[in-house]
Amino acid sequence: MLHKTILCYMKRLLITIDGPAGAGKTTVSRMLADRLGYKYIDTGALYRGVALQAISAGLKPDDDAGLEKLCSTLKMTFVPGKQGLRLLSNDADITDSIRTPEITMVASAVSARAVVRRYLLDVQREMGREKAVVFEGRDMGTVVFPDADVKFYLDASLKTRALRRYKELAAGAFQMLDEVESSMKQRDENDSTRDLAPLKPAKDAIIIDSTDLPVKAVVERMLAYIEPCKRTHFPSASGPGRD
Ligand code: DC
Repeated sequence: MLHKTILCYMKRLLITIDGPAGAGKTTVSRMLADRLGYKYIDTGALYRGVALQAISAGLKPDDDAGLEKLCSTLKMTFVPGKQGLRLLSNDADITDSIRTPEITMVASAVSARAVVRRYLLDVQREMGREKAVVFEGRDMGTVVFPDADVKFYLDASLKTRALRRYKELAAGAFQMLDEVESSMKQRDENDSTRDLAPLKPAKDAIIIDSTDLPVKAVVERMLAYIEPCKRTHFPSASGPGRD
């Protein structure tokens, strides 16, 4: 008689979450990574890091030769901190300096330059080598990890996204709501119409609209897609005999 044992092996997945600014990617990615016991990588922070260093070096966002030279001297890494990962650029902790409106717009501009994307492509792929990670960005599922195990595209209406971002900024009172909305619209336009790796859903991405969906519900919906992908079954014959 044949006894069949099903061996169940838990795969380490690489999960991508792309989408426009303010769609809730960061909160959702963090929660999802937490639930799975995975690492979470915010790739927008890397573009912001390049923007910060470009501004410090007095470079214009379209100075390709200058940006190339800058990138050749940059070593950007994430290290664990008390509240999530910290971004280091050549050993300096720049985590708290990359969220200003100026950096936001310069990050969008430098992210359209091939030299910057080429540099960060290798950095990001290296970070994904061991899997068990959730990557958040704009081109994670389309360009950086086209073979990702599960791809999501998180969207929401412009009004909702602008309001969320405004509430986040409100403590610092940097901008009024209508300014937040118009700069977000501008950035959406830059990010989705650029020639290189424009923001768009991968063909095989699962699209989730978070306009009327609370964060927890988004995460649960994602987990429902992910759970079956984590399990790989190996049917194996075992036991005393064969039939
Ligand atoms: O997610 P964020 O707002 O921190 O991203 C800052 C900018 O970086 C955004 O305007 C577009 C760019 N970006 C990108 O081009 N590709 C990514 N994978 C992540 C961000």
